[in-house]
Amino acid sequence: MDTAIKRGTARAQKTACLVAGVHDGKQLSAAAADLDHALQGTLSRLVKRGDITGKVGETLLLPDAIGTRAERILLVGCGALAGVQPAEYQQIINKAAQTINDLGLRDATSTLNDCTVLERDLAWKISQTVLAFGGNAYRFNQLKSKPSKKPVCERLQLLVAPADFAAAQRAAGLGLGVANGIKLSKDLANLPGNHCTPRYLATVARGLGKTHKSLAVTVLERADMQALGMGSLLAVARGSAEAPKFITLEYAGGGAKARPVVLVGKGVTFDSGGISIKPAPAMDEMKFDMTGAASVLGVLQAVAELALPINVVGILPCVENMPDGNAIKPGDVVTSLSGQTIEILNTDAEGRLILCDALTYAKRFEPDVVIDIATLTGACVIALGAHASGLLSNHDDLANELLAAGQLSGDRAWRLPLWEDYQRQLDSNFADIANVGGREAGTITAACFLSRFAKEYRWAHLDIAGTAWHSGKNKGATGRPVPLLMEFLLSRVRAGA
Ligand code: BES
Ligand code: MN
Ligand code: ZN
Repeated sequence: MDTAIKRGTARAQKTACLVAGVHDGKQLSAAAADLDHALQGTLSRLVKRGDITGKVGETLLLPDAIGTRAERILLVGCGALAGVQPAEYQQIINKAAQTINDLGLRDATSTLNDCTVLERDLAWKISQTVLAFGGNAYRFNQLKSKPSKKPVCERLQLLVAPADFAAAQRAAGLGLGVANGIKLSKDLANLPGNHCTPRYLATVARGLGKTHKSLAVTVLERADMQALGMGSLLAVARGSAEAPKFITLEYAGGGAKARPVVLVGKGVTFDSGGISIKPAPAMDEMKFDMTGAASVLGVLQAVAELALPINVVGILPCVENMPDGNAIKPGDVVTSLSGQTIEILNTDAEGRLILCDALTYAKRFEPDVVIDIATLTGACVIALGAHASGLLSNHDDLANELLAAGQLSGDRAWRLPLWEDYQRQLDSNFADIANVGGREAGTITAACFLSRFAKEYRWAHLDIAGTAWHSGKNKGATGRPVPLLMEFLLSRVRAGA
C-alpha cells in the first residue's frame, strides 16, 4: 500500500471514494459538511431522514457524487462529536477500510482524522488509519493457483489541515513501516510448514540483510550450535529431517554505546508435539508456531525501513518439532547452553527448550532488555483468549512499558505473576529442572522455566498463543504482536528524543 497526505477541501479531492464522518445525533463532520454544500444538501437530507445516524459501525455509500471530484462518498458513523474512545476509533477506520475493500476500490481518501479521539493526537489517528487500511487490504494468495483478481485499496490519501501536513506525513510514514512489518509477519506465519522451514526463515532473514544494509544477519548451523553447546535446542531438532537454524539480525541505529533491545522469537515451523504427539484436530494450526520469529522479522524490517535511532537485535531459534526415530523421548535429560540440565518430561513443551538456549545466547549482546515472543502455551489461550497476550517479566518498569505500548497500539497484553511459589512445580528428580510443571498455571510455569535462563538482565516474555492467529472460518495470522512491539520501540525513540 501507498499513502499520500492531502490538503484542501474535501470536495476538491480526486478519488475513487471520499470517506467522511457523521457523528451521533445526525451531525455532519467538517468534511461531510463541505461535501454537503457541494452536493446541494444531499447529505443533510440523508441524515435527516435517518439513513445514517452517526453511531459507530454504521456506513452509508453514495454511489455517485456529482458536484465533487470524488467518484463516490462513504459516510461512516463516528460516534460522539466531543470525542470517541481509541478502540471506537479503531472500529470506525476498520469499518471504513473493510467497506472500501468489499467494494473492490483501488484508492480512497479518508477525512476521518477530523474526529476527536480521547487522549490521542493526530499522529496516532493517522498511523492507525494507515494500519487499518493496510491490514484490511491484506490477502494471502501466494498458494492459490487462481488468485482472486478483485482489487484491494492500494493507495490511501489522508486529508489534513495545512498546519498538520508535516506531522501527518511523519505519522503516515511510521504507520506504513509498521504496516509493512505486519504484512511480512503475516505472510511468514500463514505460510505452511512444508514451505516455511527453518531454512526458509534463514533465507528471508538473509534477504532482509541484503535489502537493508543496516541489518547484519548471521545464521548458525547445527554444527555451530553443537560447538557452542546448545543441547536443549538441538534436542528438539533431533526428530526432524529439517535442519535447525539459529538466526540473528543486528540493527545498530543508536550508536555504539547504547545497549540493544534484544527480541527473541520462537521459530517452531511446525509443532507436531514430537513423541508426546498432539491430537489430530486443528494440528494444522501448529504451522503458526513460528509466529514469534515472524513478528521479530517484521519488527526488524520496520525498524530498518524507518531507520530508527536505536539498537535492536533479533534472535530466532528455528526448528521443526517432529517424532522420528531420532526424536527425544519423555524422560530424556539434556544439557542446555547455560549448563543447566533439563529433564524433558513432555516433548510438546518444546518452545521453552529452544528459547532457553536463545536467552542464554542473548547475554553476549549486553542487552538493555530482552523480550521473548512465543506461541508458548495452550493455557494462555484458556486464560486470556484472543484479546490479550500474556506478559510475564522479572522487571516491573519493563512490564509497565510493554503494557502501555499495548494500550496505545490496541495490541494489548495482560500481566501474570511470576512468583517464586510457582517455581517448585518445575522440580525434577533427575535433572536441574523439568520442562513441564503440571496442569496448573501452565502459562506461568512455562515463564518460570524461561526465567531460570534470564536472570542476568531485564527480561519480559510475551505468550502470544491466543493472539497470533484467528481460528475458524477466518483462519490466519493477525500480525500481532508487531503493533505492540513497534509501539514499545517508538515510545523509547520518543523518550530518547
Ligand atoms: N505451540 C504449543 C502451544 C500452543 C498450543 C499454542 C495451542 C497455540 C495453541 C506449545 O509448544 C505446546 O505444545 N505447549 C504445551 C505445553 C504443555 C505440554 C506443558 C501446551 O500448551 O499444551
Ligand atoms: Mn508444543
Ligand atoms: Zn510449540
